Formats: sequence, C-alpha cells, structure tokens
Amino acid sequence: ASFNLFLLPGDGIGTEIMVEVEKVVAWFQARGIARFETERGLVGGSAYDVHGKAISDADMALAQASDAVIFGAVGGPKWDAVPYDARPEAGLLRLRKDLGLFANLRPAICYPALADASSLKREIVEGLDILIVRELTGGVYFGEPKEIVTLENGEKRAVDTQVYSTHEIERIARVAFELARTRRNKVSSAEKRNVMKTGVLWNQVVTRVGREEFADVELEHVLADNCAMQLVRRPKQYDVICTDNLFGDVLSDIAAMLTGSLGMLPSASLGETDPVTGKRKAMYEPVHGSAPDIAGKGLANPIAMIGSFAMALRYSLDLGDAADLLETAIAAVLDSGLRTADIAKVGENTVSTKEMGDAVIAALDRL
Ligand code: NAI
Ligand code: MG
Repeated sequence: ASFNLFLLPGDGIGTEIMVEVEKVVAWFQARGIARFETERGLVGGSAYDVHGKAISDADMALAQASDAVIFGAVGGPKWDAVPYDARPEAGLLRLRKDLGLFANLRPAICYPALADASSLKREIVEGLDILIVRELTGGVYFGEPKEIVTLENGEKRAVDTQVYSTHEIERIARVAFELARTRRNKVSSAEKRNVMKTGVLWNQVVTRVGREEFADVELEHVLADNCAMQLVRRPKQYDVICTDNLFGDVLSDIAAMLTGSLGMLPSASLGETDPVTGKRKAMYEPVHGSAPDIAGKGLANPIAMIGSFAMALRYSLDLGDAADLLETAIAAVLDSGLRTADIAKVGENTVSTKEMGDAVIAALDRL
C-alpha cells in the first residue's frame, strides 16, 4: 500500500526538524517497508506570510485527504502582531477542529540513558512507559456559557462550564481501551466524581464501555488529584491513563517532566474512524513549540518530531513493527551517548539537529 503523508513543518525549528523526518520517511521507503507519497504545506506564520491566514483552504483539503498529517510547530515573535484570527496557533486549532481530533495521545517514555534528566530519582522513572489519553475537543475549555460578566454591584464574575455527553466519553474510552490492548492491558480512568457531575458520568460511561466491550482489559478508577500524586510517587503503576481535557492537560505536563526534555516528547491526535473506509483522521506533532530562541541555529532536538512519526507508523499506517524499529533506533542513539544541547549535561559534547537525524538513520541501518 502507499500512504499519503501531509507534512506541515510550520515555523521556527519546525522546518529544521521536519527535514530529519523526511530522511526517515525516505529510509523506510528505500527499504521497501512502505511506500509514501508526501506533500508539503504551509501552516502558522509561514502560511500567513503567503496566504494571509494561518492555513489555506487548499492545505486544509490536503490534510483532510491524507492518511496522516505530520506537524512541526508554529509561532514566533515575527507574527506577534498579526490579527487574532490569523495568528499562527489558529492554524493548529483549525486542523484539530476540522479533522475532529478528539483524542490526544501523549506517551511518557523514560529512556534509561536519560533517566538522570528526569525531575525524579532514576529508580522511580527508569524504564517508564505510560500513555496519557486526553479528551481534546470537549470539557471546560469549550463549554458554554464562558464569559466574564459585571454584576450590579460592579463586581465581576467569570464563568467556565464543563460539559461532557455520553458520546464524547464513550469514544475517548474506546480509544484508551483499544490502545491498552496493544500494551499492558490496563486503563486507569481519572476524574473527580466526588465533586463533579461530569466526573460521575465519566466514571459510569467508562465503566460500562469497559464491561460491555473490553472485559479483557483491566480497568481502575482514580481521582485525578490522586493520579497527579501517584505520577510523581510511583508512575510505573500506570499503563494507559484516560482523562478529560482539563485534567489531561495538567497530568500530561506532569508526565512530561518525568522523562526529561521537551525536545523528546511526541504526540498524536486522533479523530473518529470512518465506518466506510475504516480510516481515521490523525495528526502527529511534537509537544514543544517553534523555539524561536534556538531557531535557525541547527540546535533543535529532532527526536520528538521523529518519535511523532513513529506514532504515525503505529497508529495511522498500521506499521507497528516499523514504529518499534524506529524507537529502537532512537534508544540506540541515546545509549551511544549522542546528545543535542537540550538533553546534554553540563560539559558534555553536543551534536546538531542534522547530526542527530543522521545518527538515527545510521542506527536504523545497523538494526
Ligand atoms: P517552546 O516549546 O517553543 O520552547 C520552550 C523551550 O524549550 C525553549 O527554550 C526552546 O528552545 C526549548 N525547546 C523546545 N523544543 C526544543 C527542541 N526540539 N530541541 C531543543 N530545545 C527545545 O515553547 P515557547 O518558547 O513557550 O513558545 C515558542 C513559540 O512556540 C510561541 O510562538 C508559542 O506560541 C509556540 N508554541 C507552539 C506550539 C505548537 O506549535 N504546537 C506549542 C507550544 C508553543
Ligand atoms: Mg499544557
């Protein structure tokens, strides 16, 4: 089969790290592991400069038609003053919204070679491999009413509203359970049913989906605040954590610090499966931004971006073996001691973005 990849490098270091992904794509193609058709588009400030908006309708159509969107990063001081609707982030938000990307997957993997870069002690994080599945299109970030009103006495009142419907919880729960089946077969569902109605419904729906459709997968319920504590105390107890938009935002940032640098963290965002084609819309992107402070200097760590492509191989292209191979190559490069500046210890030798990408290719050659 031939897979359609739509590459959106974006701004800043986005363009530099995408070059390294293109090398990896070419490697898999040359090895006959998969055939790719790649197309490049513009997003963020670089799209604004050409089209006057953060993503053009033509590029949106290409994203819709692709098997996977591979996204770099957007933003930078150059575009701080552009109109609000055309700001770089608007391109990212439109992609998420129009592609219906309701499930955000954030793995937290602690490579043994980097365990000392964690905020926690080595023994707590070494070998850590957990996956946070965060609901991305609902909850308190989007619920209405959302407003600041001035009361008669002149005081102001701010309102945010948390809303979740059965359908939204069912579909995120299914993603979490399905992923757990490909891992260690355990889902931990985090909410606050003790104080929130959305937590009560979340708990009920996840429980029912688990019982009716995934009886083979272990399910536990954990209060979200306790989950935050457990992530720092004993994170290896988890496999897949399934949670809402707000708690997922916080829990995934905590998990990020267990693993070291921002430059190491991949992510995937998935939409619903089309009942006819069996395909699902998906976008893969590093967690970090466009890093204007180091852009153009060849200093960016490409591993978060390459790791995001590994997730595309696994989740969109059904090439789990190829994804494993790529992740093994990344681990081998880290084991060999190669470090970009963001993951180097003081005084350690560092390599450039290109050298790190080349080393991943060389490691793939050796596997
Ligand atoms: P950032 O993630 O771009 O950078 C934070 C710090 O981490 C910087 O010191 C940067 O040099 C470093 N860093 C990030 N990625 C790295 C990598 N791959 N290798 C080495 N070092 C790396 O976040 P910041 O500085 O808050 O935002 C910069 C711009 O990026 C802003 O315009 C912001 O709006 C945008 N942004 C975009 C995101 C996206 O496209 N998804 C996400 C977050 C921020
Ligand atoms: Mg966040």
